[in-house]
Amino acid sequence: MTTSIPVVVAGASGKTGREVGKAILTAHDMELVGAIAAHHAGAALKDIWSEPVSLIVQTNLAEIDVPYAVLVDFTEHQSSYQRVREAITRRWDIVVGTTGFTSTEREIIGSLVRQYQVGAVMIANFSLGAWVMEQLAKQASRYFQKAEILEAHADTKRDKPSGTAGRMAKILAESWEVDSKAIPIHSVRLPGMVAHQAVVFGTSGQILTLRHDVHDRTAYAQGVLASVRKVSDFRGRVVEDLAEIIDPA
Ligand SMILES: NC(=O)c1ccc[n+]([C@@H]2O[C@H](COP(=O)([O-])OP(=O)(O)OC[C@H]3O[C@@H](n4cnc5c(N)ncnc54)[C@H](OP(=O)(O)O)[C@@H]3O)[C@@H](O)[C@H]2O)c1
Repeated sequence: MTTSIPVVVAGASGKTGREVGKAILTAHDMELVGAIAAHHAGAALKDIWSEPVSLIVQTNLAEIDVPYAVLVDFTEHQSSYQRVREAITRRWDIVVGTTGFTSTEREIIGSLVRQYQVGAVMIANFSLGAWVMEQLAKQASRYFQKAEILEAHADTKRDKPSGTAGRMAKILAESWEVDSKAIPIHSVRLPGMVAHQAVVFGTSGQILTLRHDVHDRTAYAQGVLASVRKVSDFRGRVVEDLAEIIDPA
């Protein structure tokens, strides 16, 4: 008999956390054991999700009294930084979608992950389309020598440019052996947007545009579920590429 993976969702009331959380709730091999939010703390999760779930939303990880869980975090970077470190010291594995961490914060998280030998997945974009776009961009960068990135999100998104765009700039910069700051990123924040990115490659007389649009945040759920299932295989390191989860070959 296999046991379910206990999961705590931080950001359970958020646009992404609620879609990811509902997918965890219906996954046959996972058990939702905790939900965290800020303004919604104290609310019944069933009222937020309109799903049959008996949890009350908490503010802090310390209020969730289980020996082990996978922390799934889609919140904002300041509280996430603290929560993620707390989860690691409790020897929980972590799957983090929250963006906006500084490189120093990432390094500190990485060293804690090594010290406590937990598994960590920190991926800027859990959607299949964004990952496929990266593969196509790597290919295109062999033939084109210039590109600019356009990214657009809802005006509620706090960080700018997006983590996905920053990662794309890094991929292109590595391919062209230049500093990633040399690749322009144009950011739009408007109501009505969800998550959109285009990479426009240009050369004499022609352009090539790669484009990915997320219309609905269920786009992230499958990547997160696959990460929760695999994260304990990565003890002692931080996985940042969805390829290791969905395409290990
Ligand atoms: N990696 C990916 O694939 C991916 C995809 C989409 C989004 N993201 C990232 O995920 C994060 C969330 O995005 P979103 O659009 O879902 O945001 P959102 O709708 O604003 O939701 C934010 C969530 O975080 C909670 N929260 C805020 N401050 C908190 C605190 N101090 N302590 C505990 N919980 C707190 C909010 O709780 P209340 O509602 O109670 O205030 C809410 O549940 C962002 O960093 C975004 O860039 C990543």
